Formats: sequence, C-alpha cells, structure tokens
Amino acid sequence: MVENVLEMHSIAKSFGQTQALNGINFELKSGEIHALLGENGAGKSTLIKVLGGIHQPDRGEILINGNTVHIKGVHDAQAHGIGVIHQEIVLVPYLTVAENIFLGREPVTKLGLIDRKQMNAEAQEMVKELGLNLDVNTLVGELSVAHQQLVEIVKAISFNIKILVMDEPTSSLSDEEVKHLFVTMERLRQNGVSMIYISHKFEELFTITDRITIIRDGTYVGTVNTKNSSPDELVAMMVGRELKNFYTRTYSRQDEVVLKVDHLSKQNVFEDISFSVHQGEILGFSGLMGAGRSELMLAIFGAYGYDNGSVSLNGEELKIKSCSDAIEKGIALVPEDRKDQGLVLLNSVGFNMTLSELKHLMKNKLIVSEEKRSALISAYIKSLNIKTASPDAEVSSLSGGNQQKVVLAKWLATNPKLLILDEPTRGVDVGAKSEIYSIINELAKQGLAIILVSSELPEIINMCDSVCVMREGKLTAQLAQSELTQENIMRYATGG
Ligand SMILES: Nc1ncnc2c1ncn2[C@@H]1O[C@H](COP(=O)(O)OP(=O)(O)OP(=O)(O)O)[C@@H](O)[C@H]1O
Ligand SMILES: [Mg+2]
Repeated sequence: MVENVLEMHSIAKSFGQTQALNGINFELKSGEIHALLGENGAGKSTLIKVLGGIHQPDRGEILINGNTVHIKGVHDAQAHGIGVIHQEIVLVPYLTVAENIFLGREPVTKLGLIDRKQMNAEAQEMVKELGLNLDVNTLVGELSVAHQQLVEIVKAISFNIKILVMDEPTSSLSDEEVKHLFVTMERLRQNGVSMIYISHKFEELFTITDRITIIRDGTYVGTVNTKNSSPDELVAMMVGRELKNFYTRTYSRQDEVVLKVDHLSKQNVFEDISFSVHQGEILGFSGLMGAGRSELMLAIFGAYGYDNGSVSLNGEELKIKSCSDAIEKGIALVPEDRKDQGLVLLNSVGFNMTLSELKHLMKNKLIVSEEKRSALISAYIKSLNIKTASPDAEVSSLSGGNQQKVVLAKWLATNPKLLILDEPTRGVDVGAKSEIYSIINELAKQGLAIILVSSELPEIINMCDSVCVMREGKLTAQLAQSELTQENIMRYATGG
C-alpha cells in the first residue's frame, strides 16, 4: 500500500489577472487529518476546488494512491472517493434534509418510485450516527446556517469516501457541535478515511490535526507536524511576519446613553431583556447557539418584531417597522450570515459597499457622485485590506473572509450611531481579525456605541467593556470587565 493517498504537485491556477495558486504541493497520508492554513485569499478554497473537480488546474499533477489522475468534474472526484464540503452551502433549500442527502441517488421501490420510507429511515440513521438532533423531514431552507452545514457533512460522509475535504466546516457550529464533529472525524479516521481540514481556528487545528500545510498568496510555504508546532510559528508562516498586539483596546466609554432597551420580549424567543449601550462603549453578547442573541439584535434593527417593551436611541423611543427605518435612525447591523443577509453576490465589491449609503452619496437627488463613491470604496479596500482584483470585481469572486470584510465596509459606510456586529470575525484570518479589532476600537474611540455578538470568548473578553450573557432567551447576567473570564461567562451561558 502506498503511504500517500493523495499527492498534489506544483498546482497552478489563475483567474484572469489573479494568480490564485502558483506551485502548491500537498501530500495526504492514509488515515491522516491534514490542515490547510493561510490568510483570507491565500488560495485554500481554490486548491480544494481543483481537487473536487470544480476548477481545472493550469499546471500541476494530482496522484491518487500513486496513480496520476485527471479530475474533470465533480463526478470524477466522487468516483475517486473524494468528498468535499465547500465553504459555501450548496444544498437545495426547498427539499428536505433526507432529499438533499440522497439527491440523484434516491432508493427506489420495486415499481421504480422513490422509496421515501427507506430514504428517510436511512437519512435519520446517518444523522443519529453523527450525534445530531435533526429531523430529516425538515426543509433545508428552514434550518439555521449551522444546521445546513451539518447536513452538508452528513451528505458528504454518506458517499463511500476515502478522502474527505472540509472547507471551514465549523465556522458556524457551536462548541458542542464541533465536539460531535471531531468524534465523527476520529471514527472516520479509524475507518481509513483521510481528511483535509480548513479552519482559521488554531485551537481546532491543535486538537484534531496531524500535520498542517501553510500557503501564502498562492504559494507553498511549508508543512509542519502539529505537535511540534506552535501558534506563533503558524502565524509567522502564514503572514510572513510576527503579529504583535493582537487585540487593540483603549477603553473609551462615555456617560451618554445611546441605546436603551427596556423589558423587550418576543414570545418563545427572548424575554424581558433590558440593557443600555453608551457612547464609546463596546457591549458584548455571549451565549450558546440558540440563546436568542441574533434574534434580539434583529428585533432592535427592525428585521424581526417584538411583542412588548421599548427601544430608544439617544433618548427617543423608536418605532421601527423595517430595516430602512433603523438605518435612517442610525443603526447598522453586520449580520451573522453574510450570504443570506449581507451581500448581493453577483454585484461588484464597490456596489455592495455603497449599497446602504447611496442616499448620502447623491450629488443631487438623482445622480450618485461617482467621485465620492469611488473615494469611499478605495478607502475601505485599503483600510480593511480587502483582497480584490478591482472594486468592480464580483463579490462572489472574493475569498470567504474578504467577502466578510465587504459586509463590514458596507455598514461602516452608513456612518451609524449604533453599530451591531454579529460574529464579525467568523471565517476571517488572524491578520485580518487583528485589523478588524483595531477598527472596532477606533470606532469606539470616536464615540460610536457598539454591540459585539460573538461566540469567541477571547474576543469578547478582550474587546468589551462589559458583557451580557443570554441563555434560552433570557439575560442571565451582565458582567463587568473585571468579571470577564471564560468560566464566568460559560457558567451563565449554560446555567451550570
Ligand atoms: N471564481 C473566481 N474568479 C476570480 N477570482 C477568484 C475566483 N475564485 C477565487 N478567486 C481569487 O483567488 C484568490 C484565492 O481565493 P480562495 O477562495 O482560494 O482563498 P481562501 O484561501 O479560501 O480564503 P478564505 O480564507 O477567505 O476562504 C483570491 O484572491 C480570490 O479573490
Ligand atoms: Mg476559502
């Protein structure tokens, strides 16, 4: 038996002027979990798409079990035992979980009809195997992003695969679900499945992987044994320099209250929530998935109603009926799910950034001042370090993390009084994360009131003036900065 189930040699791929991959080498041993690590736009997803038959490489060679192969399409990849969970969800929203898992290979009855009973039973079994609590009769479109991602995983595993590739599978999973996933990965490993794992979360890489290959700007930097490596070494290899002062925070809370939420309730979602945010303050929201944080934020933003209670901005009670009311009043929300709520993927980077801001860029009532618009766009591309071929490039051509930065730019451009950030650094690399933290800090210093919803405890602890913890729709604690520890937050989040 050959030691390497997969070898990729000198893979190159460009898109127009963008050289996404330029001589990448990658080897995967049998039963190994091997991570691919690199900054946003480094070329990770592109390499995976070459392996998965979505892109054809311009140069290079792929060997499976020692034999050269040409992967011409997704079916070829499947035939070679390769299963890929892509960064973007590709399920069909109006089909059920079971239908999605079995799409195109549904079990049939003797009469040639789809055997729904069989299909549902098998799908339910697979879901159970993974330790998931999910009804396979649910329409995929009704599931949260996290659950859709889990369905992708079940689907990929359901093919009899030898190589499983996961492109940021945990970016929207809760800690508990990540644990389940890791158990599943260990089980798959024992069954001889080799895995390629992409994640920006170092903690995960050090927990689950055997080796890590680092790529930078489409080139191969090196491969390390995880247990002999360290976060500092990885960062230096990824970024090409050391990152000092990862979190920037100068505390700048002022006395003026910007947002005041009183006894806000929505039946079965959140209950009796009261808090306020001051000028220059960053107020954190922590809690497990499903605690009601995102729904609460959407309610404040007018995208989701509430039954009782009130919301005031700068002392004036708001009667917000829609998001445009909220934007008009000076509230901006960077949503959790950028695909669904954040971006118009087929439009350009520049278009998306200035989408919410068009009114203020008007020269007169009819014409958008092109000069102002492009100045604004260039300023954000530069300050957020957005990697794009040009401001006119389609947003869908950007890497995942760079799309996230476009969402952020879009809302910053509205010049808000209150900025709500829901998981702003999800899927963002360490370098860009640090940039985003210093931007958030700068905005707070300028007097903006900021709400930061995040499941990353270090982020919450290091960036916030104080933190509201939610559990099952209720506010269980508001912790002062001096009380912010992981244990404290988790205790109120879990009720333990
Ligand atoms: N279809 C495409 N058309 C044009 N450019 C593309 C396309 N796909 C990727 N690129 C470009 O190739 C480069 C690598 O992108 P890729 O998605 O592989 O990055 P990544 O390492 O997966 O980043 P992230 O961590 O943000 O997901 C980026 O500059 C991206 O804009
Ligand atoms: Mg990617």
